[in-house]
Parts: sequence; C-alpha cells; structure tokens
Amino acid sequence: MKTPDKPILEGHGLTKHFTANRGFLQRAAAPVRAVDDVSLTVRRGETLALVGESGSGKSTLGRLLLNLLEPTAGDVIYEGRNLGNLSAQELRKVRQDLQIIFQDPFASLNPRMNVQRIVGEPIWLHDAAARSEREDRVAELLRTVGLAPEHAERYPHEFSGGQRQRIGIARALASRPKLLLGDEPVSALDVSVQAQVVNLLEDLKQQFGLTLVIVAHGLAVIRHMSDRVAVMYLGEIVELAPVDALFEQPLHPYTQALIDSVPVSHPKDRRERQVLGGDMPSPSAPPPGCRFHTRCPHARPLCRENQPVFERLPDDRQVACHFWREIASAGSGSPIVVTPSTAFSQRLALFKARQSTLTEPHP
Ligand SMILES: Nc1ncnc2c1ncn2[C@@H]1O[C@H](COP(=O)(O)OP(=O)(O)OP(=O)(O)O)[C@@H](O)[C@H]1O
Ligand code: SF4
Ligand SMILES: [Mg+2]
Repeated sequence: MKTPDKPILEGHGLTKHFTANRGFLQRAAAPVRAVDDVSLTVRRGETLALVGESGSGKSTLGRLLLNLLEPTAGDVIYEGRNLGNLSAQELRKVRQDLQIIFQDPFASLNPRMNVQRIVGEPIWLHDAAARSEREDRVAELLRTVGLAPEHAERYPHEFSGGQRQRIGIARALASRPKLLLGDEPVSALDVSVQAQVVNLLEDLKQQFGLTLVIVAHGLAVIRHMSDRVAVMYLGEIVELAPVDALFEQPLHPYTQALIDSVPVSHPKDRRERQVLGGDMPSPSAPPPGCRFHTRCPHARPLCRENQPVFERLPDDRQVACHFWREIASAGSGSPIVVTPSTAFSQRLALFKARQSTLTEPHP
C-alpha cells in the first residue's frame, strides 16, 4: 500500500539560467533566468499540473525535475536520493523511471523508424531482452495505449495526431516508468481527440500506479485531470494548491487573472473579470520585489521592493503575495477562510481511496 502524500520527486532551490554564447569581444548578455529558486514536491501517485503563460519556465522546470537539464543551482531528490550524487549508471536507471511525453508527437518520433523500433528502442537499450520478447512487449504496449499490434510495422506519417501521441506514450511506458511528465501532451491535438488522450493517461495512471506531472496552457484540461496545480510566473511558482481550491478560490492575483481568462459557458458563472494587461517582462531582467508587480492591479510600493515569501497555508496551499489575505477578503466581501469546498473534499477522498487500492506498478 502506498502513502498518498509521500514524495516521489522533489526540487530544492532549483534554478536554471541560460547564458547565450557571445563573440569573443562582445559584452556577455544577461542570462535568461528561466527558473529561479523553485522548490516543490511531487507526491507519489498524484497528478500535478504546471501552468502559466508561455515563457514562464514550465518546460524548463519539468526538464530539471527529470534530470534532462543540469540545474544552475539546486537539487533534485528522487525517492530520497539526490540525483547530483548518483553515478552515471545509477542515473541511467533513474531516467528509466522518469519519462517524458512531448507536445508534438510528430516532431518527437523519428520518421525513419517504424513503430516496432520506436517503441522497442528503450526496451532494447534498457532490458537487453531477446528479439521475440521485445516484439511481444511492443505488441503489449501498443494494446495498452489503444493501438493494434499490427501497427508495429507502420511509420509515424501513417498515423493521425492522436495515434502518434499514443505511440509516444507507448514508447515512454516501455522502460516501465514510475513517473510520466507530459509537456503539453494534448495541446497539439484536436479538441475531440484531447479528451481521449487525457482519458488514456488517467487509465494508465490507475493501471500502473503512475505519478503524472502535466505541463499545460489549457486550464480546462488541468481542472479535469489534476490533483494539485502549481502556477508559474517568470521563473517562479506563485501559487500551489489542490485543484478545486485553486479554481474556486484563487489567492494570487496572477492565478485569478489566469482563471478569469477561461471562457465560461453558463451566465451564472460569469463574474467581474480581471484582465491580465501587458506582456510578461523579459526573464533576462525580471522586475525586483514581486515579479508580478508590473502587471498586478493590487501592487503597492512594498511589492516593488520586497520579494514575497512563498507562504505555506493550512489546507495544503502555498502562495507568494504580500497582500493575498486582503485581496481575497475584498473579493469575497468577508474575511477569507481557506476551507476546502465540498467538491474538493469529495475529490480528495476519492484520490485517497484510489491511492490505497493501487497495486504495485507493472506487476
Ligand atoms: N535552451 C534555451 N536557451 C536559452 N533560453 C531558453 C532555453 N530554453 C528556454 N529558454 C527560455 O527560458 C524561458 C522559459 O522557457 P520555457 O520553455 O521553460 O517556458 P514555458 O513556460 O515552457 O513556455 P511555453 O508555454 O511557451 O512552452 C523562456 O524565456 C525561454 O525563451
Ligand atoms: S505581492 Fe503585490 S504585486 Fe505581487 S501579486 Fe501580491 S499584491 Fe500583486
Ligand atoms: Mg513549454
């Protein structure tokens, strides 16, 4: 039996600054501060979403967590072990456990390889299984993701977008991972196909006891499939909360603006909207103090000078804003009490029940 809140993957003070290579006599450009001092925990068996505008650092943070990028500073801890202290051989084993699914399955699948090779390659690399065993395993993986074993002889261009994403997922599953990171796994797909792929990911999570980290623009997808959501702005996490609490009572002004930007279908759901004005500042020169102050309708002098701490609240929430209490109270007309909604409590109960019935991954 698993403990729902036990961490599987942790980032401590993760930082990634990209430095452009300039010519010998040129002045060095300011580094792009893609991720700055981010700490977060991914819990075993949960679906954690990373959201935020384009360029906020979601993909970079995801790649840091999966050890696909070397951090400028900070540590990644996987199952209690600091990846920075592992040997090359130990790291190879960890990489099998932590797999990624890309946004554009066409770009991420080698067009000259057939499906047998694409999906079979990780098995060949990691398992050294006999050829017939590999073929059987590829057939099993294809069935698992809703494709037919006969598809193994075909090439990526012979498939639809949704089928190609299934091939990408089969390849990611080939090394029997414990955690899958989907970097915008459905945003390149038609809306009708998006739901099918989301459902597939949820089924696989159940079947194999996976942990999912989903990077996404689409808040609707996130609301449907995640347990907790981390909101990123300009290389930092500004709010982290259980999904229903975040949607029903966003505390950070940036989260409020993001949620307000989601179209609502029912008139009763319409409320006064907070429009997110201006562009995100350059990550090479982030504003001092609170990085959101240049666009925040609630900004005050303190916000320009002091960086807010990422405060831990009751009810499993964290927020980085000097004035979240006042802002939230003003919005609701009464002092804020951060209590979980009924929907959230039901979801949490379901999540916990699901965790306790999960079997070991990949029997
Ligand atoms: N290899 C790189 N070299 C230089 N800058 C980079 C590199 N990768 C990312 N960046 C920059 O780091 C910042 C964060 O990028 P990242 O791709 O992590 O954002 P994102 O939130 O995933 O955006 P999107 O939603 O567009 O995918 C951006 O300013 C981006 O231009
Ligand atoms: S700290 Fe200030 S600028 Fe930043 S989000 Fe809060 S109110 Fe806005
Ligand atoms: Mg990205």
